[in-house]
Amino acid sequence: MENILHIGGVSAAELAAAFGTPLLVYDEEMLRKRLREYRECMTNKKFSTRVAYAGKTFLCKAMAKLVREEGASLDVVSGGELHCALAAGFPAKDIVFHGNNKTPDELRAALEAGVGTIVVDNLPECEALAALTRQTGTQADVLLRVNPGVEAHTHKYIITAHPDSKFGVSVTRRDELYAVLGTMRASGTLHFRGFHAHIGSQIFDKAAFAAEIEALAALAQETQQRGWPAEVFDLGGGFAARYTDEDAPIPVPEVCKTVLETCARETEERHLALREVWIEPGRSVAGEAGTTLYTAGWQKTTDHRQYVFVDGGMADNIRPALYEAQYSCDAAARMNEAKTQTYTVAGKCCESGDILIESALLPPLETGDLLAVYTTGAYCYSMASNYNHLGRPAVVFARGGTARCVLRRETPQDLLYLETEE
Ligand SMILES: Cc1ncc(COP(=O)(O)O)c(C=O)c1O
Repeated sequence: MENILHIGGVSAAELAAAFGTPLLVYDEEMLRKRLREYRECMTNKKFSTRVAYAGKTFLCKAMAKLVREEGASLDVVSGGELHCALAAGFPAKDIVFHGNNKTPDELRAALEAGVGTIVVDNLPECEALAALTRQTGTQADVLLRVNPGVEAHTHKYIITAHPDSKFGVSVTRRDELYAVLGTMRASGTLHFRGFHAHIGSQIFDKAAFAAEIEALAALAQETQQRGWPAEVFDLGGGFAARYTDEDAPIPVPEVCKTVLETCARETEERHLALREVWIEPGRSVAGEAGTTLYTAGWQKTTDHRQYVFVDGGMADNIRPALYEAQYSCDAAARMNEAKTQTYTVAGKCCESGDILIESALLPPLETGDLLAVYTTGAYCYSMASNYNHLGRPAVVFARGGTARCVLRRETPQDLLYLETEE
């Protein structure tokens, strides 16, 4: 191994010198390969399939273009994400629009743009959407998001009798569910295509997806008998990424096989009208492809720890502070040196909780050393803030030995752009 970390064939030192730190670097080939792998593994004789990258994970115009080039669809959850996708030239027909509280303006924008699928989340939204189609003279293909009562997080999944999620209509609330389906039918403009569900995140157990499909299939069998056949199952995302050595995500071919086989079995056994199976991976596409480069600043020794401070933190990666997410890191220019020192890697924000990694074994660091925190491609930039008036980092796509900046660094001047007074 070289003593210096390379990402997409470009050395971390070169990247830091050219673009500064903190810097979010994507291995572009890894992003593409992941999308391709999903598309290939979902290819199937029985079902037509769709892989919709979940834009909330990380979205900018370059990412939307890349998703398009790899033949995937795109899932968006707000007017802002929709705007970004359309600005990148992403075909509206291949966009899936989600959200538990899409505003009338957002729904109108989606209808006017001709968004391919709107995922209806609840009854009042359905009624508003139906009214909007009448006002605008538009139509829409819709899925109904249901809460199948299967909840999965990391290694465990549970089947709950009374799910309380804010998303979707619970399968236990059949009256409401049929009221939504009835509203769709009565509208004449909302074309019910099937069901959507999303059961959680960072799921390591493929049985959770099988349980999700079984729950959807049981529902679809009933709705079919009552005149609402579901042609589409959109199973959402939730496929895990590797953050630390303890994580062992289900290989993509394996999870896709489980999904397709379970759908086929349920379709046959229950005589379902199911023809299309969609998935919406986010984290497992973008997570591991992203690495954040930081510059080490001052160190501090306490009775219990050796801190190393970095030039970013919770403003560019809120996940450790928000839900104790675990990360791993390396000294990017000392890859071959013995790891003899345990550090707490802390950010520069004015919060005691601004700790990126509680305990990282690294070679002894000096001020100015580069630190690479891995698997920061998902839900870091998209959740970034300007806390402490820190600008968001630049984002670079590196591939085949060259790097291109796809989002420039936010400057202190940028942070004044909303000010209305001199
Ligand atoms: C509806 C929906 N689809 C897809 C995703 C992507 O999930 P993940 O990044 O875990 O694959 C999410 C994440 O919250 C979601 O809510």
